[in-house]
Amino acid sequence: MSIRGSTDSVLLFYTINYVEYQRRYDTITSQEKTNLSHGYIPAEEYREMSNLGNYQTAYERFLKDPEKFWSEIASELEWFKEWDQILEWNYPNAKWFTGAKCNITHNCLDRHLNTEKRNKVALIWRGDDGSERIITYRQLFREVCRFANGLKSLGARKGDRICIYMPNTPEQIIAILACARIGAVHNVVFAGFGMESLHSRIRDSESRFVITSDASFRRGKRIDLKSIVDRAIVHTSVEKVIVHRRTRPRTELYSEIEIDFYDLMKERNYFIEPEVMDSEDPLFILYTSGTTGTAKGILHTCGGYMVGTYYTCKYVLDMKPSDVHWCTADPGWITGHSYIIYGPLLFGTTLLISETTPDYPDPGVWWDMVEDFGVTILYTAPTAIRMFMRHGEKWPEKYNLDSLRILASVGEPLNPEAFEWYYKVIGKSRTPIVDTWWQTETGMHMVTTLVGEKMKPGYAGKAIPGVVADVVDKEGNSKKAGETGILVIKGPWPSMMRSVWGNDERYRQYWTQIKDYYVVGDLAVKDDDGYIQIIGRSDDVIIIAGHNLGTAEVESALVEHEAVAEAAVIGIPDPVKGNIIKAFVILIDGYSGSEKLANELTYHVRMTLGPIAMPAEIKFVESLPKTRSGKIMRRVLKAQEMGEDPGDLSTMEE
Ligand code: WT7
Repeated sequence: MSIRGSTDSVLLFYTINYVEYQRRYDTITSQEKTNLSHGYIPAEEYREMSNLGNYQTAYERFLKDPEKFWSEIASELEWFKEWDQILEWNYPNAKWFTGAKCNITHNCLDRHLNTEKRNKVALIWRGDDGSERIITYRQLFREVCRFANGLKSLGARKGDRICIYMPNTPEQIIAILACARIGAVHNVVFAGFGMESLHSRIRDSESRFVITSDASFRRGKRIDLKSIVDRAIVHTSVEKVIVHRRTRPRTELYSEIEIDFYDLMKERNYFIEPEVMDSEDPLFILYTSGTTGTAKGILHTCGGYMVGTYYTCKYVLDMKPSDVHWCTADPGWITGHSYIIYGPLLFGTTLLISETTPDYPDPGVWWDMVEDFGVTILYTAPTAIRMFMRHGEKWPEKYNLDSLRILASVGEPLNPEAFEWYYKVIGKSRTPIVDTWWQTETGMHMVTTLVGEKMKPGYAGKAIPGVVADVVDKEGNSKKAGETGILVIKGPWPSMMRSVWGNDERYRQYWTQIKDYYVVGDLAVKDDDGYIQIIGRSDDVIIIAGHNLGTAEVESALVEHEAVAEAAVIGIPDPVKGNIIKAFVILIDGYSGSEKLANELTYHVRMTLGPIAMPAEIKFVESLPKTRSGKIMRRVLKAQEMGEDPGDLSTMEE
């Protein structure tokens, strides 16, 4: 196995995974090869199934006339006034569908009411305690309008920022849509965040109102939210706090600024005209914290975001109105904004939302729900899949998962082992795996493998039609196949962020590191077919003896081992090598950590990636520090090892 690289130190890299696949592929038996190719090249029927049809044709259609391509998609939605121009590109600022007037809730709700969707189920909600609620499109429309009228009665106006700090309940979705209805800019803060994070997000966005719940529930435990809000609004511009009171006896409301969620809706009109929004008016701010740096308020606007989420639901998730779509994220993340709420409702599909934890009361709960509700599209994260792998096949095997037809993933690289497990154990080797690469900033999916196209485990896929992605060096020159480089998006797309709230300079930085290109912050490698493998964040790189190693690659190698459920690696400064690797490993149930196993894992990494990537130390652990969106916080592990201050922990999971 060779180490390829360039003299460019940031980009000098292994291309091991690809080379290693090739090597392993060469050594397996022909019977295995048949199974493999049968498995990963989806059956012909999927080629027919996809909404888009052939990737190549669609991509060429886009390249030939990008504006026509987007205008055709936008025309499938309803606008109060058509656009004058599709795109006004004033690098690095884009305006999409200029002059157009719209309201996203009109397309999510009103548009369906004159169709057979009026009494169709919009939301199915399953609570932490197993309770259920079902809401039709008509009902959702009425509740949103009533709540929007309630907000108006408090003096909320177009452009006001409203912070939503609620658990995953129908009321949360009603609150979000009601803001959009009246043109208020929602700023959803995930209910798992603590007081400091909430406070800084309220302050930064200068929110006038906070909508919250008295409590959220997790594993049967009540988590008080209201008392967090009480403290978070001190020294802020908040005028009113609206409280959804879920628990009995009711949480008392003390001060004059507090109002009950349902009292606010009482006797309100069941209709309110949607606020006429300019295509470029703000729709929402969503703070992205990631693993490093302070949170940025990513700003999305009305028209382009609507078109982008609609398009990708249709073509990437292959959504049909008959689907029961379950995206297991929380609406507090961009995945929830785009693929629980806006996209699927634009499409008129049925959504499952749930407050449940994947392993409570037992690791079968999700599969029980898939069987029970007949879920057809499941959209989850690699970290959840690896957790299920750890509990073993016996859990999903107890349930009938035949309703599933699309399995999607997001958040971090879907390593080949997890891909295979998801594909075989959950998908019974018949459902496509759609690994979607995108970001809070992109608003919609960007790189993935469309249904019907050949799937490659470990590779997200290609840029979707409408998007131009490439792997380049620091000067912006395309890298050759097999060479690691910087992932960039060339040119604007409709659902791109428009700014960082209150910090245009921070927005510009995404576009000015390499002229004309949007630098996403991930390293990637392309193969000969143009498939993109995401290596990891460019800051998650360890330099060992002059070679750059992606933490994700070493982790992926460790997870390949049968005993390993999850792994995180960090670099520890070393006088000789610059850095050495320390690995933290969670074992699969039934295995226990020993020196022998540590040696075996080290040997395994050596065989897979080469001696340079061998961990100098392996530590067996029960859990890893993660952000609430499931990303491993390597800097926390590192600070712990180095005896340093781990910095801001507000985004960390309990
Ligand atoms: C970062 C964006 C987009 C919703 C979830 C996270 C990583 C995301 C993938 C994927 C490999 C992925 C990237 C990206 N990421 N999806 N399919 N394969 N990496 O949103 O918090 O804005 O994070 O998540 O590093 O830059 P986010």
